[in-house]
Amino acid sequence: MTPHIHANLGDFAKTVLMPGDPLRAKFIAENFLSDVHEVSHVRNMLAYTGNFQGKPVSVMGSGMGMASIGIYSWELFTHFDVDAIIRVGSCGAYTEELKLFDVLLAESAWSESSFANTQNGHKDPITLPSAALNQRLLTTANEINVPLYQGKIHSSDVFYRQEENAHERLYREHQVIAVEMESFALFHNAQVLGKQAACLLTVSDHLVTQQAASSEDRERAFTQMMQVALHSLR
Ligand code: HPA
Repeated sequence: MTPHIHANLGDFAKTVLMPGDPLRAKFIAENFLSDVHEVSHVRNMLAYTGNFQGKPVSVMGSGMGMASIGIYSWELFTHFDVDAIIRVGSCGAYTEELKLFDVLLAESAWSESSFANTQNGHKDPITLPSAALNQRLLTTANEINVPLYQGKIHSSDVFYRQEENAHERLYREHQVIAVEMESFALFHNAQVLGKQAACLLTVSDHLVTQQAASSEDRERAFTQMMQVALHSLR
């Protein structure tokens, strides 16, 4: 039991998949897993454990932003014996190299966030996922024929910026190809605690072309991303 997760040791599987939206976690549990049960619902941050093709896995919402995923990932790693967290989220594209609904594997996360510096004095604006977990996701994507785009992503603390077309500057100055709001903190926590983390994203909106996804297209891209995460389970 932790302040934000009311569950017992053993309730979570070793690997937890984390979408931002708790209702996404519920959808994943109901549509992709078998033998599922809910393990926590504090603040409606729904968490489930079940099986995918006989392999135990948990799925839990992270909420939006680094403050939120910072809390849940820390508690999962430190109190529930979780070894690996795979974020399964969405992102906005900063470059036309990326198309709507592409599936992206984060190679690194760049951020202006003070999260890592505040947490333990880490000053590098880049945090890294687990190389082993990334390799497993790449191998899996290859095996099931899902094209995976790789690159440095931007973890932003701010969704609504005053600066117009900030994406152009950020892409030019930092070579970040897409924006989301969680991975920098997730990777940092995993690194500090000697655990594994990775981040898969689908492109849900495009900052350059201003396109946004229809719900059917969103669903198809999301399913492809979930297949990579689930088939990578060992
Ligand atoms: N900004 C930040 N996070 C996001 C976006 C965005 O445009 N799209 C999906 N996650």
